[in-house]
This record gives sequence, structure tokens and C-alpha cells, in this order.
Amino acid sequence: MDFRLRTRSDIPRCVSTLKLVHSADRYPYQWPHDPIAWLNPAGSLIAWVAEDKGTDTILGHVCVVYGPGSQILASVPGIGSHQRASVSRLFVSPAARGQGLSLGKSLLRIAQTWAEANDLTLTLDVVDDGGPAVELYERLGWRLLDLVEAEWRTPEGNHPKIRVYQAPPVPAPAAPEATSTSV
Ligand SMILES: CC(C)(COP(=O)(O)OP(=O)(O)OC[C@H]1O[C@@H](n2cnc3c(N)ncnc32)[C@H](O)[C@@H]1OP(=O)(O)O)[C@@H](O)C(=O)NCCC(=O)NCCS
Repeated sequence: MDFRLRTRSDIPRCVSTLKLVHSADRYPYQWPHDPIAWLNPAGSLIAWVAEDKGTDTILGHVCVVYGPGSQILASVPGIGSHQRASVSRLFVSPAARGQGLSLGKSLLRIAQTWAEANDLTLTLDVVDDGGPAVELYERLGWRLLDLVEAEWRTPEGNHPKIRVYQAPPVPAPAAPEATSTSV
């Protein structure tokens, strides 16, 4: 698996993977009119992909947006506006989940590490549906800041509840195991 910065030539394959994610998870809730623009939300700073070189497939994607990235995140107090950034457009191909690849976790960690190095505090918002994304953020120790009602409606006409999270500090790399030498 190759984790690397996204390039322009990755975009068509990112859209293909996003189609699979949308069919499986309704993420995004509604298929965007312009999926390429959707992959580049306003304020995009940087994006990464997980690529399977063997099959030439993009299996995962994440980007970081400068600023709150959404109306909901803008309303969360306590983070200096210059330091604010948000995780956006995180998805992993359904075929690459549940096999111990941990692509979602790895992509999030890459985004967190980059944000820390750039003195940015990451937040994100996620629909409170008890789905794999909420599970992932909880397992990785993201801090629940708020639970709010979305302004937008689902195709069924409901305003879903949205969870707002802040990134935890990136865990220090594990120390190498001590090797014993005989004398
Ligand atoms: C959320 C998503 C990116 C997670 O990707 P993933 O590659 O399956 O996640 P990982 O395998 O790295 O999961 C990390 C941990 O969460 C656990 N996890 C993942 N999905 C889970 C689920 N459905 N139920 C329980 N645990 C789950 C994994 O077991 C793993 O734990 P571990 O490291 O202790 O083994 C993926 O499910 C996805 O693309 N969902 C649709 C798009 C979406 O909702 N994006 C987020 C928008 S805010």
C-alpha cells in the first residue's frame, strides 16, 4: 500500500472509488453534481491517497481544509481561528475494509501528523449514525466536542444529528524493542 500526496492524475480514480463508497454508505449523502469539485472543498490545503499499486486503484482518500470547513465546525468555540483546520473527504473503498489494512486509521494519522507539524488543530464533523466513521474516531481517541442538529436535510427530509470531534495528540512512535546482547 502506498500512502502519498494526491496528484491531479489521481482524481478520476478517486471519483471511481467515491462512487463505490456512495453506493455502500451514502457518503456523501447525495451524489455531488461535480464530484471533482467535491473532492476539493473550499480551503483545501492538502490531500492524500492510499493506492494499491498492484491493481492501480485508489483505495482511500483524505484531505485537510484550512478553517472550520463547515458551518457547524465554525460554531465550536475554543480553537484559535488561525490554528483551525478540519479533516474532510475521508473515505475508504468498501473492498479495502475489514481486512486489517486500517486504511482509515492510517489516513487520519497522516492528516493529524501533518496538522501538528503545521501547528493546526484538527476538527471534523460526522453524522451521528453509529456507523464505521464514528466508531473509527472514538477508537482513535478523538474528543467529542458537541452534538448538534444539521441545517441540511437528508433526502427523507430529516435534520440529522452531527457529532463534532477534535483530534487527540498524535501518539509517539513506539520505542524500538531492546535487543539483548550476550557477552
Ligand atoms: C470510516 C472509514 C473511512 C473507516 O475506514 P477503515 O479503513 O475501515 O477504518 P480502519 O480499518 O482504519 O478502522 C480503524 C478502527 O476502527 C475499527 N472499525 C472500523 N470500522 C468499524 C465498524 N464498522 N465497526 C466496528 N469497528 C470498526 C477497526 O476495527 C479499527 O480498529 P483497530 O485498529 O482496533 O482494529 C470507512 O468505513 C468509510 O470510508 N466509510 C464511509 C465514508 C465515511 O463515512 N467517511 C467519514 C465521513 S466523516
